Amino acid sequence: MGFVVAIDGPAGTGKGTVTKIIAEKTGLINIDTGAMYRCVTLECLNQGVSAYEEEKIEKILENIDIKLTHDENMQKVYLNGIDVSEEIRKTKIDENVAKFSALKCVRDKLTPMQVKMGEMQDVIMEGRDIGTIVFPNADVKIFLDCSLEERASRRYKQNIKKGINESYDDVLKSMIERHKLETERKIAPFIKATDAILIDTSKMSIEDVVTKILEIIHERKKQL
Ligand code: DC
Repeated sequence: MGFVVAIDGPAGTGKGTVTKIIAEKTGLINIDTGAMYRCVTLECLNQGVSAYEEEKIEKILENIDIKLTHDENMQKVYLNGIDVSEEIRKTKIDENVAKFSALKCVRDKLTPMQVKMGEMQDVIMEGRDIGTIVFPNADVKIFLDCSLEERASRRYKQNIKKGINESYDDVLKSMIERHKLETERKIAPFIKATDAILIDTSKMSIEDVVTKILEIIHERKKQL
């Protein structure tokens, strides 16, 4: 196994941004596992398959090809050879991904792919179940948390920048729904690993969070 930093946390904690900066500063390979669940969701929706049609989803998973690449610090996501980096961030995917990612067949396909990625190289991997299921023995486990209101407010502002017109109340509502699905699902429910270090980012800047995690990584490396 390579050196593995697991970063788990709900949407809107700044997880993606923080992970990207730490990857740039440390040379760890950034793996956004949420992007992989988003790819499966996009492919199923493109083929007109809903989250209730598990047999059809299993067929799709047999041939799906998901690649995460890093060109000049830009992470790109390829689904069956096509760059879908932007498409997987659309509202349609936000609305459906929690349903697809709750399915056993989907997790059975993606989890081993993620394990393989961490075995081959030194990684910082972000998601919901990295410290609990994918890498229970990760070298560093961080759980980023943040108040629901702050998370919704951050996502609302991000949306405005992206030109997405969704009211704060709607953002809040969909966050609550997604969180419920993620934490109550039977397989790999989203919970904090008991040995993960909790960082509440509600009142912290991105820079502060990055500094704190870098300190934790340096401390851990000294022990190895
Ligand atoms: O981090 P994100 O918002 O891009 O994640 C998209 C969805 O994928 C989210 O609903 C939770 C799910 N997910 C998961 O179940 N397990 C992971 N390791 C990563 C994401």
